[in-house]
Amino acid sequence: MNPSALEHFIAQAVARSGPPAHPPEPADCVLALAPLMLDLIEQAGSFLQPQHLQGSAVGYTRNLVYDAPDRSLSLYALVWLPGQWTPVHDHGSWGVVGVVEGVLEERSYVRLSPDRGADDGIVLARGGTVLLNRGAVTSFVPNPDHIHITGVPAERQRAVSLHLYGRTMSDFNLYDVAAGTRRRIHVAHNES
Ligand SMILES: [Fe+2]
Repeated sequence: MNPSALEHFIAQAVARSGPPAHPPEPADCVLALAPLMLDLIEQAGSFLQPQHLQGSAVGYTRNLVYDAPDRSLSLYALVWLPGQWTPVHDHGSWGVVGVVEGVLEERSYVRLSPDRGADDGIVLARGGTVLLNRGAVTSFVPNPDHIHITGVPAERQRAVSLHLYGRTMSDFNLYDVAAGTRRRIHVAHNES
């Protein structure tokens, strides 16, 4: 194992996303971090361990790689077996995603109703699709929420992606598009 690539990335990410008391604008944050993720992908083989690559037939798998002690930053390796998708969700944080293996697909939703903080009366329209091949980096910022599903169609091969967020990503909003509602859920991950 070569921890230096990961340690270097985390140190740079902490420096460019903090301090928590005075964080930069989320858009500036992902601007600074996206090139770092591009480099990290190339070195993923040096620090990803077998436990980071474990998948599950039950659903896509979130394997924790790093969680900051103050919960201001987290990095996960996500493993997507063919046919596995997230539900429609947002993040409540900025995020930077890099694809290590396979093709990760993102299907966006556009919020048509104003966000007054209510969990109902939410009108979403389907937006575009992005195909992220190995080596690709994408990012998002909150407010308004970035709402999407991510996954791998059944006819494609496994995908592995790295996800850096501006907080411990242990909960987020799930949307019921037909009902126009959302609810907060807690999501599990595997510890490294
Ligand atoms: Fe997401």
